[in-house]
Amino acid sequence: MKKQAITMALLLAGTAVLAHGGVKDPDVMNRMMGMSEMARQVQILGAMAKGETAFDAEAGNKALAKLSEEASYIPTLFEPEATDPKSEALPVIWEKYDRFTAHAQELERVTGALAGTIETRADLAPAMRQVGQACGACHSSFRQ
Ligand code: HEC
Repeated sequence: MKKQAITMALLLAGTAVLAHGGVKDPDVMNRMMGMSEMARQVQILGAMAKGETAFDAEAGNKALAKLSEEASYIPTLFEPEATDPKSEALPVIWEKYDRFTAHAQELERVTGALAGTIETRADLAPAMRQVGQACGACHSSFRQ
C-alpha cells in the first residue's frame, strides 16, 4: 500500500520531465515548467521514501512547502488560453476555470498543511499519497 502510493505519485511526476521539448508558445512553456518544478519536488520526496537518498526531514518539508508555493502560481500560469501542438491541456480548463482553480487551491492547501509534518521516513508515503491524489484529481479532468 505504501509502495503503491509512492509509485503512483512518482508516475504522475515522472511521465513528462522532457515532454515540453519543442514547445513554442511561451505561456504553454511557462505552465509546463511550473508543472515540471512540482514534479521535481515529488521526485525528491519519492527518492527519500524509497531509500534511494538519505532521509532528511528538512528537505522533505522544504519540498512540500515548495509544492505549495508552486501550486499557488497555477491559476496565473493558466490564465492565458494558450495552445501549442505539444500541449496536453484540455479546453475544458477555460470553460470550467473555477473548478480548475479549485483543484490548484486544494493542492496548495494539502501541501501547505503537510509541510512541517515530516519527521520520519514513515511520514513520506502517506504524504505522497495525499499529494498524488491532489495532482491526479486535476489531471483526470483537465489534462489529456
Ligand atoms: C489545477 C490542475 C492541476 C494540478 C493540481 C496539477 N496539474 Fe500537472 N498539469 C495540469 C495540466 C492542465 C497539464 C497540461 C499542461 C499543458 O500541456 O499545456 C499538466 C501537466 C503536467 C506535467 C507535464 C509538464 C510538461 O512538461 O509537459 C507534469 C509533469 C505534471 N503536470 C505534474 C504535476 C504534479 C506532480 C502535480 C502535483 C504535485 C500536478 N501536476 C498538479 C494540471 C494540473
